[in-house]
Amino acid sequence: MIRSHKNQNKEVLFDYRPKCTIINGDSRENLVDYKGSVDLIVTSPPYADARKKHYDSIHPNKFPDWFLTFHESYWNALKPEGSLVINIKDKVVEGVRHRFVWRTIEKLIDAGWQAIDDYIWHKTNPMPGYWPTRLRDGWEYCFHLAKSKRPFMNQEAVKMPMGGWAESRLKKLGEGDKSRNNSANQSGFGRDLSRWVGKNTVLPSNVLSIALVGKNKGHPAVFPMELPSFFIKLLSPEGGLVVDPFAGSGSTGIAALSLNRDCLLIDTHKEYCDLAYTRLFFEAPRYSDITYSNISSIESVIQKKERRKTNQKGKRNGDGFVEDLLAMATPEYIQSVKEEREMYNAGKTKKHKKAFYKIPSRPSLSKRKYATGVLR
Ligand SMILES: C[S@@+](CC[C@H](N)C(=O)[O-])C[C@H]1O[C@@H](n2cnc3c(N)ncnc32)[C@H](O)[C@@H]1O
Repeated sequence: MIRSHKNQNKEVLFDYRPKCTIINGDSRENLVDYKGSVDLIVTSPPYADARKKHYDSIHPNKFPDWFLTFHESYWNALKPEGSLVINIKDKVVEGVRHRFVWRTIEKLIDAGWQAIDDYIWHKTNPMPGYWPTRLRDGWEYCFHLAKSKRPFMNQEAVKMPMGGWAESRLKKLGEGDKSRNNSANQSGFGRDLSRWVGKNTVLPSNVLSIALVGKNKGHPAVFPMELPSFFIKLLSPEGGLVVDPFAGSGSTGIAALSLNRDCLLIDTHKEYCDLAYTRLFFEAPRYSDITYSNISSIESVIQKKERRKTNQKGKRNGDGFVEDLLAMATPEYIQSVKEEREMYNAGKTKKHKKAFYKIPSRPSLSKRKYATGVLR
């Protein structure tokens, strides 16, 4: 329910609780109920043949056709101005790069997707190692695909400080900088630097420098929250719906709820859905609303994890996270988080009003959707 909406150009108060639904199942089957309602799909599919120990993986030669089996459900779920961001890394097979990633993107383009841009996630702390013909892997792709050539994009939301360059360069503007000139090397790129005087922010580049997740989150392929956060800010409106159809530990969900978007997380593995629910329960804003049909209570997930840990010999991927979780999740702490969540649910106390968040003025493209849209 919208509480007040006086002026589109000013900050307006909404009684809004972003909502996350977790579904344990196959995303090809579970997106059918969301036809035309999704603003952004941001995801990282299982890497070809790379994680056999943890979940089903697909041979690189078969990966493009396998991924195409998801095309229709993604296409139908997205709004016409919606976007699909795929974070994926290619693979070295018998010493050389296998090009299944390129082939997958080519197939998606043949199926009707527009290739809007290729982003690079530059890992500032790549894994050390030695390979006779290669260096350390320092980056991964993030492909931005869309249903149309002009998808929703809020560039204002990701602008960054212009930095030192502006101060030194703009102080000494020459005559050639004050009008749009061809560049000195005749590359055909012109610029009028005087346009930047007095401006403090600039668009970031399509290379995103983000560190790998250091802390074990109980899933073998957790991406850093900053990665989905960047695309959520850029490619979905506040109050919109974000989907991660290969949700894993739920990083996209935490990012979406923190940025006041609704989200839908789907994963075939119940263990990962449990993990995502647990992370969201503790890490997502308390005023957000989490629905997960497979679960009776947060205590039951934690107990199950504790049992799993004591039943196992030796350390397994995820145990570090489970230990941290168990150390943190004392009955008193769980109770306090539950109470905070329930308080927002009931919506009665004065404190609950702090959960009203301010929605800044938005680009005109989304105004109409906003007025009629998903806000409850
Ligand atoms: C690379 S992981 C995603 C990790 C996630 N980005 C995170 O930060 O935790 C891929 C996930 O896709 C899930 N998966 C594989 N096939 C699926 C399908 N058909 N539908 C839904 N999930 C699937 C796997 O269980 C796995 O957790």
